[in-house]
Amino acid sequence: MASLSLILIFILIIFSVSPPQTSLADDSSVMAKLASSLSPLPSDWKGTEYCTWTGIKCDATNLVISIDLSSSSISGSLPPDLNRLSQLQTLFFQKNRLSGPIPSLANLTSLREIHLDDNDFSSFPPDFFSGLCGLHIMGISNNMNLAPWSIPADLAHCGNLATFTASNASIIGLLPDIFSSFPSLQNLHLSYNNITGPLPPTFAGSYIVYLWLNNQIKGLSGNIDVLSSMTQLSQIWLQANQFTGPLPDLVNCTDIFDLQLRDNQLTGVIPKSVMNLPKLVNISLQNNKIQGPMPVFGSKVKVELGQTNSFCKDTPGPCDDQVTALLSVAGAIEYPMQLAQSWQGNDACSNWLSVNCDTEGHVTIVNFGKDRFSGTISPAFANLTFLRSLILNDNNLTGSIPMSLTTLPHLQILDVSNNNLSGPLPVFHSSVQVNSKGNAFLGMKINPDGTVSTSWNESAGIIAALVIAVVLFVAVVLYISYRSYVKKRKQEKFFGHFDPEKGRKMAKNVNNEGPNELQRGQSSRDHIEEVFSIETLRQVTNDFSNKNELGKGGFGIVYKGELQDGTKIAVKRMESSMMSSKGMNEFHAEIGVLKKVRHRHLVALLGYCMNGNERLLVFEYMPQGNLAQRLFDCRQHGYSPLTWKQRISIALDVARGVEYLHSLAQQSFIHRDLKPANILLGDDLRAKVADFGLVKNAHDGNYSMDTRLAGTFGYLAPEYANTGRVSTKIDVYAFGVILMEIITGRKSLDEKMPNEQANLVSWFRRILINKEEIRKVIDESLDINCQGSYESICKVAELSGYCTAREPLQRPDMGHIVNVLSPFVDLWKPCEEKEEDEKEGVDSIDLDMSLSQIVQKWKASEGTSSDMFSIDDSRSQSKDWR
Ligand SMILES: *[C@@H]1O[C@H](CO)[C@@H](O)[C@H](O)[C@H]1NC(C)=O
Ligand SMILES: *[C@@H]1O[C@H](CO)[C@@H](O)[C@H](O)[C@H]1NC(C)=O
Ligand SMILES: *[C@@H]1O[C@H](CO)[C@@H](O)[C@H](O)[C@H]1NC(C)=O
Ligand SMILES: *[C@@H]1O[C@H](CO)[C@@H](O)[C@H](O)[C@H]1NC(C)=O
Ligand SMILES: *[C@@H]1O[C@H](CO)[C@@H](O)[C@H](O)[C@H]1NC(C)=O
Repeated sequence: MASLSLILIFILIIFSVSPPQTSLADDSSVMAKLASSLSPLPSDWKGTEYCTWTGIKCDATNLVISIDLSSSSISGSLPPDLNRLSQLQTLFFQKNRLSGPIPSLANLTSLREIHLDDNDFSSFPPDFFSGLCGLHIMGISNNMNLAPWSIPADLAHCGNLATFTASNASIIGLLPDIFSSFPSLQNLHLSYNNITGPLPPTFAGSYIVYLWLNNQIKGLSGNIDVLSSMTQLSQIWLQANQFTGPLPDLVNCTDIFDLQLRDNQLTGVIPKSVMNLPKLVNISLQNNKIQGPMPVFGSKVKVELGQTNSFCKDTPGPCDDQVTALLSVAGAIEYPMQLAQSWQGNDACSNWLSVNCDTEGHVTIVNFGKDRFSGTISPAFANLTFLRSLILNDNNLTGSIPMSLTTLPHLQILDVSNNNLSGPLPVFHSSVQVNSKGNAFLGMKINPDGTVSTSWNESAGIIAALVIAVVLFVAVVLYISYRSYVKKRKQEKFFGHFDPEKGRKMAKNVNNEGPNELQRGQSSRDHIEEVFSIETLRQVTNDFSNKNELGKGGFGIVYKGELQDGTKIAVKRMESSMMSSKGMNEFHAEIGVLKKVRHRHLVALLGYCMNGNERLLVFEYMPQGNLAQRLFDCRQHGYSPLTWKQRISIALDVARGVEYLHSLAQQSFIHRDLKPANILLGDDLRAKVADFGLVKNAHDGNYSMDTRLAGTFGYLAPEYANTGRVSTKIDVYAFGVILMEIITGRKSLDEKMPNEQANLVSWFRRILINKEEIRKVIDESLDINCQGSYESICKVAELSGYCTAREPLQRPDMGHIVNVLSPFVDLWKPCEEKEEDEKEGVDSIDLDMSLSQIVQKWKASEGTSSDMFSIDDSRSQSKDWR
């Protein structure tokens, strides 16, 4: 009896506690709706006894706690009131053909697992996760037809989340920074979506073990540094994104067995800790721009490195010392992509961006001016012991100037202006020109309490040293400005009057270049090259219309364009057929060279554009065409023939430009494709050398053999054509051919000529044997009767003979050629002034002046009659003159 009453009491208690029976009715209506919206249904899904249906589990009160219809080939959709199954704990709908919107399951606090993977749902409700505080596993992968959705921030409500798989599920937008909310999250699978932006900072300290973020359509970006503090990681799939920067130190991530980083934009040197990961089985790194020594992994590791990284060598082992130092330098500024792309191989002197060398292969200049780098100044600069100029102005550098820089024995210029450097300014030898303006905190010590004080007034000795340094510096600057003044005067004398535009540019150069020859190369960064958008360039060239075509360059067609501000430009567009790696190399080589060489007689690069497959270079526009048009087809192009004076002045311009390339630029360059078509003319008929696509660094080896013979027939030096041997003397040869063309008005190769005359060089060299013969072959449009002309033509003819000597050693160098040619041009200086007059429209008056008037005018302007003969030439075109 006692036990019976006990049971009764129990029953009473249970009845009073259990929920009202109405909830049973609720689940039955939802289940009925569910059954009516799916097909084909399992055979026993009929009647109202839903707790007995296949796949359904109920609790003691007949409330549904689990629905499992996985892999059942079911179509249809889920009813919107599914969230009224208040006790629901698990939902398995994966691997069916369900479609339609996913219903909101908000506030189902008991729900632990949701499996919706491998279906065809159409949309994901934004409030799906709100109140799902029991959620443990969420799967929605492979629903590729979902309308794009982003991971809602209220996923953070799901503090018990352990697995979130949503690969291939149309996710867009950023990863919300909510990962500190998931102390149990182990699996984060979000591959094949369109998630963008950086890895969220709260990844740090998370417990994620399997991180799959690979193959985002546009790609995640930013660096992957946060991995180093995700110490639970075992599997990392970040391949096929846009991540940048170096691999982080993974010393504390000892569980990693699979590290997939291929197909990103990673740079930098691989840390030792990555090579030493104790459990590593698979690692892929291909298709990045990873630098430094080729990594070495344990023998059991499956490694994919690919061919397109920027390792210094094809085999493991340390890089060259200069390369190592420069990599440390790049490391301190977060290994910028532009450097990783350019700094290939194990020779820092092979046209590396921002690096210049002397002819012995020592790095002498590093120029990061206006590169927008952030980071610090690496003390490893001190290992570049031949460094003469270190240009770091106008970046976002922080930290202090390393003391070790004071040990650089050859340092002459240190420009750190306009950064955000702090700490003491090291005391440099007085011969070093230091520019540190525009660093508000430099020379200040930032105290632990946050206040700022000057750090260098600690010892009077240092002040004394500073005072001496300043005095010396001022003296040096005065001396230097005096010298550059004298030099400028000389130049002015040499070149006569300049148009104001040029004058301005020159003034800028002089300003920025400062004291000596050394700096000519580095000023290049002061004319910062602009990066143009493809849209702009399309617009200004009428969508690369044929009408805008100016000609063909080494690897593409050149179009004329005009920028909004009225600046005329020439746009060289790489042909798609050249889009090979070789073509790309030429493109990058040309940019690389152009950035390093700036000279009045070299066509200036204004900017460039890289967009998808498009590669374009933007040059200053040269309005008067090229020398080939002037020499060979001048009537056809509507020009009058060039006078001898104009020709020789063009020749001198070219010689000066090439001399600069050969020896005065910081590196020695060989043009390799000098010819009249590559000599462009400005409005004043001053010449500039163009087309640097084939330029070679002479340092690459004077006797390097090129697999491909570059250049143009008719201008190829014999040793180059026969053996591929390259030296600066091949440019001298080509220049000699150009001189012959200037004299004769004939092309270097002319099939229309009789056989013995078809090759200009051999024919003209035979002529040279008898000086009297020269008279007969001079271009008919030249007037050789005027005083002086014939003599100078003969001198130039003689010079062209030396230039085209068979033996490279017998050819003069460009400096010598400049010396020979410049007196001829110099002598005509009064003429030039005359020409300036002509430009101003005095021309017609001149013709009306009597001879004596003209002579008097010259005498008045120049005073000496010995200069007179040189004037003849400019008059020679006018019949009235004689
Ligand atoms: C994405 O999901 C669809 C099914 O929705 C599947 O056919 C496709 O193969 C998946 N793509 C990837 C890359 O897994
Ligand atoms: C690795 O862990 C140690 C100890 O917690 C810490 O001092 C060090 O900074 C960590 N290294 C990295 C690269 O996170
Ligand atoms: C490593 O990669 C190979 C092929 O890429 C794959 O078959 C293997 O399962 C991977 N091993 C691990 C542990 O990921
Ligand atoms: C300079 O080079 C030496 C030897 O190659 C190396 O030990 C040192 O760490 C380098 N200095 C810096 C600051 O990188
Ligand atoms: C420059 O550095 C100081 C500390 O060294 C910092 O407080 C300040 O925000 C920085 N300024 C800029 C513009 O980065």
